[in-house]
Amino acid sequence: MRFLQGRFRAACGVRAGDRVLDVGCGGGQTTREAAADAGRGRVVGVDVSEQMLEHARRRTAEEHISYLLADAATYDFGEAAFDVCISRFGVMFFADPVGAFGNLRRALRPRGRLVAMVWQPRAENEWAQVIPATIARTTESDRADGVFRDESPFVFGDPEVTRGILMSAGFGEVTFAEVRERLYYGPDVETAYENVLQLREPLALLAELTPADADRARADLRAMLAAHDSGDGVLFDSAAWIVTAS
Ligand SMILES: C[S@@+](CC[C@H](N)C(=O)[O-])C[C@H]1O[C@@H](n2cnc3c(N)ncnc32)[C@H](O)[C@@H]1O
Repeated sequence: MRFLQGRFRAACGVRAGDRVLDVGCGGGQTTREAAADAGRGRVVGVDVSEQMLEHARRRTAEEHISYLLADAATYDFGEAAFDVCISRFGVMFFADPVGAFGNLRRALRPRGRLVAMVWQPRAENEWAQVIPATIARTTESDRADGVFRDESPFVFGDPEVTRGILMSAGFGEVTFAEVRERLYYGPDVETAYENVLQLREPLALLAELTPADADRARADLRAMLAAHDSGDGVLFDSAAWIVTAS
């Protein structure tokens, strides 16, 4: 899946020599882009998933990139060890966001920058409504009754809440840039279907269904993805924020 990469890379503004920490680096795409921009600057990707890190290591040849299996919320990275901390959709899962961002702030040098891409509220994200609603075969009124299983991706959707958390964690100069783009799920329905089945919420919803209902839901999912096949990929509307703080 391509996640709005161009705007994010530009916003990160990594410069030659920067030491960069990529939080929740997943398969390492943003880590590698940061490393290309950092020249010989040290770049560390941290993730709690060894599976994701294995994937990242397989795709990484650059010697100045290292990957770390750790919880970024609590790991001691060392004081002022980095110039820039970046994260594309990797900071939304902290149990204690103020504590976690405080930990990341300590890892940054004074005037160092945090650049994080986070989702706007679910209501602004077509993919986040249509996919679960298709599996659960819901109506508008059902949705209010709690069809959705995982609100963590949207916890930073409200800029004032996010600003408050970052200020409490010791950051200042918090700014938000809006990103509205068609989100690409794959070149065709089958690839998009496989990608959807790797996401937490669809998996959780499918696991709750009887085998017959799960078969029905998979067929509905394929039909819905076909309806979003633009001929140039399966696309959904999305809305995110690029949050910067220092
Ligand atoms: C939505 S994925 C984004 C991956 C990657 N940044 C990208 O844009 O492709 C979120 C990633 O954050 C990782 N993650 C979640 N909580 C974390 C934590 N506390 N510390 C480090 N990684 C975390 C997950 O394992 C997952 O790989």
